[in-house]
Amino acid sequence: MLNINEIVPWGRNLEEYCSMFSLSAGDLSKSILCFADGTGSFNFEMYQQGRKAISLDPVYSQETEVLEEKFNEALEYSYVYVSQLPGNEQKIFLETEQIREKATNLFLADFETGKQEGRYVPYEFPHRTPFASQSFELGLCAHFLFLYDRLGADFHYASVSEMLRVCKEVRIFPLTNQMGEESEMVLHITKRWEQTHNVERVDVAYGFHSLGHQMLRITPIAETGYLRG
Ligand SMILES: C[S@@+](CC[C@H](N)C(=O)[O-])C[C@H]1O[C@@H](n2cnc3c(N)ncnc32)[C@H](O)[C@@H]1O
Repeated sequence: MLNINEIVPWGRNLEEYCSMFSLSAGDLSKSILCFADGTGSFNFEMYQQGRKAISLDPVYSQETEVLEEKFNEALEYSYVYVSQLPGNEQKIFLETEQIREKATNLFLADFETGKQEGRYVPYEFPHRTPFASQSFELGLCAHFLFLYDRLGADFHYASVSEMLRVCKEVRIFPLTNQMGEESEMVLHITKRWEQTHNVERVDVAYGFHSLGHQMLRITPIAETGYLRG
């Protein structure tokens, strides 16, 4: 399903993950499984703090050099794009790029070691992960599910099912598709799990598109004590 030519390694950092998923200090102490985690520095920064996160992504089957080359291509393309923007927008883009560059460089420096330690595991939705049921306290997925809603309802059901099989709680950000509109998959997923789970939209501080300030949080009803009449 994934073509290496379509990959744009563009890393986000721990601070951004905290903001996208409203991660509290308590959340960061949990065992965390990050789906479609890409080439950001969340895993490495967690590891540096002695915390536990495992990242999954199909790109982890690639060599460091391939990912680095892809990132450099993406940067070059981005600089050409930025040079065509008005001055004030250029400044914002360049600041964001510096964050991406720093996060991706931290990832690239950590990738081989982290892979050997089992912190970066090649994995593609919607297949079964190698982990036991309910073995992680928190499962996160940023900028993949809902965003690529053209992957369809079956893909989304199967992917969220696997997240919920291995994780006690799941958070997905954002709720928008690539057009910046709310993804139709949000309603499908909510309807599918609302009888057995507490499915909540939660406001978060991270701004993406105009609708990109919410995440979906899914927890078993029994866990929260929340019962539907
Ligand atoms: C836009 S990036 C998001 C990366 C990261 N989560 C973030 O927010 O910065 C989307 C990621 O999804 C990964 N991906 C593509 N197809 C996938 C699939 N079938 N299952 C899981 N991840 C996939 C890509 O390799 C890429 O790293």
